Amino acid sequence: MTLLNIRVEKTETPKPIPGEEDPLVFGTIFTDHMFVMDYEEGKGWIDARIVPYAPLSLEPSAMVFHYGQEMFEGLKAYKGKDGRILLFRPDENIKRANHTNERICIPEIPEEDFMQAIKAIVKMERLWVPSREGTSLYIRPFIIATDPFLGVRPSHTYKFLIILSPVGAYYPEGLNPVKIWIEDEYVRAVRGGLGEAKAGANYVASLKAQVKAHEEGYSQVLWLDGVERKYIEEVGAMNIFFKMKGTVITPALNGSILPGVTRKSCIELCKAWGYPVEERKVSAEELFCAAKEGTLEEVWGTGTAAVISPVGHLRKGDVVLQVGDGGIGSLSQKLYDTVTGIQLGKIKGPEGWVVEVE
Ligand code: COI
Repeated sequence: MTLLNIRVEKTETPKPIPGEEDPLVFGTIFTDHMFVMDYEEGKGWIDARIVPYAPLSLEPSAMVFHYGQEMFEGLKAYKGKDGRILLFRPDENIKRANHTNERICIPEIPEEDFMQAIKAIVKMERLWVPSREGTSLYIRPFIIATDPFLGVRPSHTYKFLIILSPVGAYYPEGLNPVKIWIEDEYVRAVRGGLGEAKAGANYVASLKAQVKAHEEGYSQVLWLDGVERKYIEEVGAMNIFFKMKGTVITPALNGSILPGVTRKSCIELCKAWGYPVEERKVSAEELFCAAKEGTLEEVWGTGTAAVISPVGHLRKGDVVLQVGDGGIGSLSQKLYDTVTGIQLGKIKGPEGWVVEVE
């Protein structure tokens, strides 16, 4: 196994690290350094380095600006009570990153190099990992196409970067249930498209409906499938789960749904706790019928940024539906407590879920 030879250039102007009492808004402040590596055809991924966090200099013709050949990932580092710095299932993010790369014609990064890069930059910035409850160091790896060229084809050159941001809750609501707008005009993705890849393109496709939902006083959008506009796919930038008559149900991965790491973890935990778990198609109609019959017990979103985000009420057209009593459900709460407990090293999770940065 060849390891990356990472060159380090330290900043001469370190920024103040937020104090434990300072509020941390998601994704607004960045640490002192970033990881960078370049790709050149014929040479592969080269010149791995940790350098001061700074603006990039790119040609205005760089392909990423024109055709959006870009991928990203999101994972978090946590500080446990014992001071250890822990990553949550980073191998899953790395595998998904290469799946995205394959889909959008970006050269893959060897898994062990990717892991080494994450560990190296987090170790360098370990003092930035916050320890207050509900906080973490968000890790954002991403790759951009840098060829100065206006023809449509895969780039021959890329930049891979990892930036870090100390964060608090993603949604201002925190664990309070959010109001969701069921979107039947715009769609996020279609099977055969980019939906199951973590590409910026999926997120730009979601903006218009998000703005519409906000204008209506709703926090997030519930996405329906792009063909029949009947079946539920995701909520906001998260996967979605339902508990109906004691069964946990989540839309099956069908090519247009992102395979979330928190989604996978929730499925595995619920199965281990003895819940029947179904990955299948769920229509909006089924949801409304269950709510009417009183069998829709809980709805929650899962994602790295928010971990678990309970849904309190949904609206489709003029019909408004309340989930349970509108508060956080007991399974949603148990999942939140367990997943965050494992992430912080307070609860022992399944083998390999937590990776220490030493
Ligand atoms: C996540 O749930 O982690 C996301 O995908 C949100 C991210 C785009 C900020």
